[in-house]
Amino acid sequence: MVSLSFLRLTALVFACTGIVSPTLAYILQVHEARERIPAGFSLHGAASPDTVLDLRIALVQSDFAGLEERLYDVSTPSSTNYGKHLSKAEVEQYVAPKPESVTAVNAWLANNGLRATPISPAGDWIAVQVPVNKANELLGAHFSVFNDEKTGHQVIRTLSYSIPAELKGHLDLVHPTTTFADIQPLVPVISPRHKSRTQADSNFAADTVPASCDEEATPACLQALYGIPSTPATQSSNVLAVSGFIDQFANQVDLQTFLKRFRPDMPPSTTFTLQTVDSGQNDQDPSEAGVEANLDTSYTVGLATGVPTRFISVGDNTQDGIFGFLDIIHFLSGETTPPHVLTTSYGANEDEISVNLVQNLCKTYAQLGARGTSILFSSGDGGVSGSQASGCSTFVPTFPSGCPFLTSVGATQLIAASGLVTETAASFSSGGFSNYFPTPAYQQTAVDTYIVKTLEGGTVNKGMFNASGRGFPDVSALGVNFVIDVGGDTGTVDGTSASSPLGEAAVIALLNDRLVAEGKPPLGFLNPLLYSEPGASALNDVTTGTNPGCSSAGFPAAQGWDPVTGLGTPNFSKLLAAALAV
Ligand SMILES: *[C@@H]1O[C@H](CO)[C@@H](O)[C@H](O)[C@H]1NC(C)=O
Ligand SMILES: *[C@@H]1O[C@H](CO)[C@@H](O)[C@H](O)[C@H]1NC(C)=O
Repeated sequence: MVSLSFLRLTALVFACTGIVSPTLAYILQVHEARERIPAGFSLHGAASPDTVLDLRIALVQSDFAGLEERLYDVSTPSSTNYGKHLSKAEVEQYVAPKPESVTAVNAWLANNGLRATPISPAGDWIAVQVPVNKANELLGAHFSVFNDEKTGHQVIRTLSYSIPAELKGHLDLVHPTTTFADIQPLVPVISPRHKSRTQADSNFAADTVPASCDEEATPACLQALYGIPSTPATQSSNVLAVSGFIDQFANQVDLQTFLKRFRPDMPPSTTFTLQTVDSGQNDQDPSEAGVEANLDTSYTVGLATGVPTRFISVGDNTQDGIFGFLDIIHFLSGETTPPHVLTTSYGANEDEISVNLVQNLCKTYAQLGARGTSILFSSGDGGVSGSQASGCSTFVPTFPSGCPFLTSVGATQLIAASGLVTETAASFSSGGFSNYFPTPAYQQTAVDTYIVKTLEGGTVNKGMFNASGRGFPDVSALGVNFVIDVGGDTGTVDGTSASSPLGEAAVIALLNDRLVAEGKPPLGFLNPLLYSEPGASALNDVTTGTNPGCSSAGFPAAQGWDPVTGLGTPNFSKLLAAALAV
């Protein structure tokens, strides 16, 4: 892992003479660097000098602090401006770079014979095409070819790059450079349908939750567990968006089969609409149906009854080096009315992505939150070892869950206790503390209480995590044994937090439907409400289980917030009462 102190080192590197005219010599300073090639990647060799790189440059936003203040002002229940979300133009005023930043960066590029085009609605991101040899000169970099051992793909990256000293404060980052990310759908495999229940399981049934929910979670299980209503939503403006990446396609026929079986009360033609970004597709051949995409669409359409649901398929034509994570947010920020909920079941490890890029992406979630969008991400599948289980010597926080401006969702599973169904933490539920973001004010008390009481003042797991980081997840939901149809076959999806944002997203979307019907604004950025007293007491506190990893027991769940299940799982009617009372 690259430590922040290393990145803040600013070694002086001089630009090669001959690449810039002597009158305009730029003194380069290291801007971002990694100490070593990240695990999972290996050096293949030098990049061909003529290979053209699509570089993206982020300019420093003119007033992010101002936007952050407005975000909290419209999202904190006690504020008189609660719910007064910002317009596209209002957000862009904060996000747009200062004119002097645009001038400085464009002059530097022009001086090197380059011209950039804006690629974000506010103009804070621009793109240039540069051959490798030119990029190496421009940025004092060593772009090389690296093998991504997990996917077998090759990427061109550099372990460090520099920018002219006079651009500090104007240029935020250049990308893709030091980011070596592996974004994963957080659902590994589909397993064959479980064997039928044994006699011993039969005392498992609670009064309301169907007896079979421990082995086969269906929409009915989630409806019963969280009190999610099955009555159709009424508000057509209340859109729930589901993102899809890396050629995960959502199959309409599978969805129909799923709804016929599990939601016979819904019209069988109920489906999602498709939106595409970066030449995204949605191939309907059964062999192309994606486990993650089908899971995500089945459990949003199948639970958020009647809520207009959009599947946003992000294509391969991203060039953003992070699988379109940036592009989808720029796309949605460009809409006059972005969706009220965006749920994403993909993630990576925080340390795979450059600090500047993680922070920049996090700001994009703040932009959408200020517009009134609730952003949900799954927390990861590897317990304290990250987005997927892996070897590690210190706990691995996940991306983007460490960002304070989104709602991170962990996973639970069901257990029988005295003949009643109760929820316990799913052992794979990622949670912990970011190394890139400090604890935000809204969760400070909750995090402090956990560290003092449950971690015995930080002596438990000492040295394995950053106690002053943003704690995640914020909430949780059932994430085990979800029944899905993929390419005509049925199976259950095991051991993943992928399913957890779905129950949560459906709950939030249905809450928004009620709010909008009453002429109220949608919930938007959720966390200040969730961590408030009325918010937290509307959740079922999950107090048992742990999330082991890195050869440790991980963190224990506990009363109140914990870095395994967050504040707990939803209770629809209590959340509705809390939301209506604001
Ligand atoms: C939600 O909370 C209410 C009020 O405490 C309770 O009566 C109800 O059973 C809860 N619903 C579920 C599904 O747990
Ligand atoms: C721990 O988190 C804080 C707050 O984000 C940060 O300033 C500090 O650099 C982090 N320490 C390490 C070792 O990552």
